[in-house]
Amino acid sequence: MDLVYLNGDYMPLHEARIPVMDRGFLFGDAVYEVIPAYHGRLFRLHEHLQRLDNSLQAIGLQNPLSYDAWQEILQRLVAQQPEIDQSVYLQVTRGIYAKRDHSFPEQVEATVLAMCSPFGQPGSSINDLGIAAITLDDIRWDYCNIKTTALLANVLLRQQAVESGAVEAILIRHGNATEGAASNLFIVQDGKIITPPKSHSILPGITRDVVLELAEQSGLTYSEADISQQQLESANEIWLTSSTREIMPVTQLNDHPIGDGKPGPIWQKMYSLYQEFKIIMRGPS
Ligand code: PDD
Repeated sequence: MDLVYLNGDYMPLHEARIPVMDRGFLFGDAVYEVIPAYHGRLFRLHEHLQRLDNSLQAIGLQNPLSYDAWQEILQRLVAQQPEIDQSVYLQVTRGIYAKRDHSFPEQVEATVLAMCSPFGQPGSSINDLGIAAITLDDIRWDYCNIKTTALLANVLLRQQAVESGAVEAILIRHGNATEGAASNLFIVQDGKIITPPKSHSILPGITRDVVLELAEQSGLTYSEADISQQQLESANEIWLTSSTREIMPVTQLNDHPIGDGKPGPIWQKMYSLYQEFKIIMRGPS
């Protein structure tokens, strides 16, 4: 049941092997996507594959597969357990080359990996109590819009959050809050939803776009604007969004309560809209 797609073949996960000379392994010279699948239906596949294209283009790598080929592979992986919600991981590296050299090798075939795992549904305690977050300096590079597997800075930031008893780090760059170590950021201030605009400082999250669409459709006030650290600290609500964690309410920031220390009313509303939207998108089960 743990089938993996690797370079044209399907195999059990424990049989999948990548040579040590793969540039994904040596340099983090690779991009990836994480796509949720609800009841066997890939959620926002088109948008995820479009972002994959953008990431590949940004690192000068051709997409090794057509849209239809990706769809077929991912659908086949998800079809192993259509009854449960899953998250699909796919990765494209610049491939294997005999010599370790930073510059691009010529005529090398990309390595393509795809696999899926049960969706770690956010626990009900998160929805009841919210999560704790801390602010940290955004130590990442200048191309955070590329979804690269070179995630060491994100890993170190997330780990620092976890070691301080928090769930996520909210990153501060030039005095503004950008996003989480693996999530996008929203605040609610005086009834208005605010999220930083798309730029090289954040990953253009697919969940982020869904949340903005839902805000638009349901008449909630929102804007895409910079969020200063001071605005973040005094926000009525803070949310973090991602494909695997959906919309998480932050109720503690740096050990201080946000709002009244409970998930706020606009988060409640957005959370319900998101759950309804998921059901509509996946169709009748
Ligand atoms: N990460 N920002 C960063 C830095 C992320 O790593 C992610 C997601 C997001 C949210 O994007 P989306 O809504 O498209 O999932 C924002 C994935 C889930 C991961 O690395 O596992």
